[in-house]
Amino acid sequence: MNKGFVLWFTGLSGSGKSTLSKLVEERLLERGVKVEVLDGDEVRTNLSKGLGFSKEDRDTNIRRIGYVAKLLSRNGVCAITAAISPYREIRDEVRKSVEERAAFVEVYCECSIEKLTERDVKGLYKKALAGEIKNFTGVSDPYEPPLNPEVVCKTGEESVETSLNKIIKTLEMMKLIPVDPSADYTEEEEEEVAKRLKDLGYLG
Ligand code: ADX
Repeated sequence: MNKGFVLWFTGLSGSGKSTLSKLVEERLLERGVKVEVLDGDEVRTNLSKGLGFSKEDRDTNIRRIGYVAKLLSRNGVCAITAAISPYREIRDEVRKSVEERAAFVEVYCECSIEKLTERDVKGLYKKALAGEIKNFTGVSDPYEPPLNPEVVCKTGEESVETSLNKIIKTLEMMKLIPVDPSADYTEEEEEEVAKRLKDLGYLG
């Protein structure tokens, strides 16, 4: 059985969490890894139906997602989560609880508000800036970036392929997924991943 783990995406709305989580899922399935994706938007239609966007409701949402991810990961599944998860304290609480039995890999999708507003795929930033949506993360509600994420994807700058490669390479180097010798990484991608993991104390 594969070692289970949690791949926890965090970042503002529209920063690429859902897109990347689905692409990672595809890559992992190709390697025979068992995967489940817990996507924020989807979870809010079932497991967290009825919850809003107050701090209390967001914390409840994240704790629920974290709880399910913990159960999956300790049974050999790779649980991928893609919710904004704006509060550092709650993310760290989930990390602690997962790490009792499995690895926790945090992926920060970093993208400037300017870029997100420019792209505005769902049209939500325009509304938030006009005051039509209250407490919108990054505009009128806090977002606390992680201090020591295992992966940083600069989704406003780098290609989707580079972000994806950095995530997969990180999982390989942490020995959480089987290595695919045919996978093609650039030197910069490999160096960045190795340096980050070394700085975090993962590599000998
Ligand atoms: S979280 O804060 O609890 O982690 P979650 O990821 O589940 O958030 O949901 C975020 C999604 O809800 C956004 O991508 C957006 O489509 C929608 N949304 C609606 N209202 C808000 C808001 N006030 N702040 C952020 N996202 C919102």
